[in-house]
Amino acid sequence: MEHKDKNFCNYCNKGDAMEPANIVIFGAGGDLTKRKLVPALLKMLDCGLLHPDSRIIGVLRGVEQQQWIDALHKGVTDYCPELKLDNEKWQRFSAMLKMISGDLQEEQTYENLSASLEELGGHTHAMFYCAVPPRWYTTIAAGLEQQGLTDQTQGFRRVVIEKPFGMDLKSAQQLNQELQEVLDESQIYRIDHYLGKESVQNLLVYRFANSILEPLWNRNFIDHIQISAAESIGIEYRANYYEKSGALRDMIQSHLMQVMTLVAMEPPVEFTADAVRDEKIKVLRAVRPFKVDGIKQQAIAAQYGSGCIGDEKVKAYVAEENVSPDSVTETFAGVRFHIDNWRWQGVPFILWTGKRLPKRVSEIVIRFRNPPFNLFDTHATPPLANSLVFRVHPDEGIALRMNAKMPGLTTDTQRMVMRAPYAENGDDVSEAYEVLLHDVLTGDATLFSRGDEVEESWKIIEPILAAWKERISVDRYRAGSWEVPGMDALFEGCVGGWHKPG
Ligand SMILES: NC(=O)c1ccc[n+]([C@@H]2O[C@H](COP(=O)([O-])OP(=O)(O)OC[C@H]3O[C@@H](n4cnc5c(N)ncnc54)[C@H](OP(=O)(O)O)[C@@H]3O)[C@@H](O)[C@H]2O)c1
Repeated sequence: MEHKDKNFCNYCNKGDAMEPANIVIFGAGGDLTKRKLVPALLKMLDCGLLHPDSRIIGVLRGVEQQQWIDALHKGVTDYCPELKLDNEKWQRFSAMLKMISGDLQEEQTYENLSASLEELGGHTHAMFYCAVPPRWYTTIAAGLEQQGLTDQTQGFRRVVIEKPFGMDLKSAQQLNQELQEVLDESQIYRIDHYLGKESVQNLLVYRFANSILEPLWNRNFIDHIQISAAESIGIEYRANYYEKSGALRDMIQSHLMQVMTLVAMEPPVEFTADAVRDEKIKVLRAVRPFKVDGIKQQAIAAQYGSGCIGDEKVKAYVAEENVSPDSVTETFAGVRFHIDNWRWQGVPFILWTGKRLPKRVSEIVIRFRNPPFNLFDTHATPPLANSLVFRVHPDEGIALRMNAKMPGLTTDTQRMVMRAPYAENGDDVSEAYEVLLHDVLTGDATLFSRGDEVEESWKIIEPILAAWKERISVDRYRAGSWEVPGMDALFEGCVGGWHKPG
């Protein structure tokens, strides 16, 4: 669908015209830059959301500028064929690229960056994107500050960091403290690409732009809520990170708890970053603390063994490269949260995620209570509980599962699913990174985590991490199967039980 306004983005449907900015990427030779950042910037340029006078300055080491540009070109053509990159588009984009060679730990690198920004002149705004391992975040922030590059008198200076934001409460607090010593909190953009997904943002619109849901959105009608992210891939090349992280840290503490706050929060007074984040943090503060003796019933961990995904035979987690053969790291985690407030008392929120599951599906399932009385009880199949399903990925959209009469001379019921896809085939559903990069450039931090939110979420799962640290074994599930030990028990008392994505 082409939009008539030339400043209107057909990818992310936002209409703000941009001012030129310097976009500095640390780690510009890495995977994230190639796969996500450069394709997103290309799209933004293409649809007028990146001012053509902007500069993209890569900080990296060990290559010449032309080699770097060629590698980016290869990355875009390999990973994003749908962009249909032609020579003209690439020439326009590559003219914006400039490389600074240097090591992140050397002061000289930041001096060179500062001199280069000065030389390029004219652009007062700057976004600094840390596409590097997290141990470098505070070094980069301090290096920028020393060169006066965080000073906002001439224009905005924003620093973007990628998760993980710490590996536990203590390291998250330390990271926040060190960043806040050199930056104002409003300059720190903690990116969670999951929140940049259309369907996650759409959740807010569904909730707060429709009056039909609000009366139902509480303990009186909802039995429980499931928020999930199932993946069919394994850990790929990420063993070193994953061995230290595991599924609980990698997905639940970050992405899925963020989604939980969006599902559970009260309506904000206005749609601004702080108003939304103030409501989100109230949800986190209301989460019932986990007690040591209840953790077994409320949090489950499991690890994939060998098996098949479709027709492909896959190896067990412990047989993956760089994984210890006696690793007890969980590749599947499920946690049952309770939110102790007026709206959600008694409604479990069950968050689960896993790798090497039969398919890649991410969804939010709102499971309603059973009807108070079953009028059709004389027949074989009692009606099933209603569910409203928000599909985050794939096939973004919503589905309402209801009961209907079977055709014919019977009052037996059958399941009926009403589906509403978010975008018709062919419509562009924007990718997370272009939405989020655009938000950084326009100073909209609504979809980014604030420092206090990050600490609060670590505080909640800290008792689970402590309990799991002591474990010497972990349950297994077969790769490609939904038979995960402990999952049915985690749903005890929940109407309809575990919703395995169909
Ligand atoms: N890749 C993704 O899709 C993805 C998704 C979500 C989050 N993230 C996060 O994004 C960040 C970057 O991920 P990535 O996958 O792009 O990692 P990566 O491929 O390992 O890239 C990291 C980059 O940092 C550079 N670097 C490391 N130490 C350096 C130093 N002392 N001086 C100069 N450069 C240095 C590396 O350069 P050398 O090659 O020269 O060492 C490399 O180019 C990580 O925090 C990751 O957790 C990535």
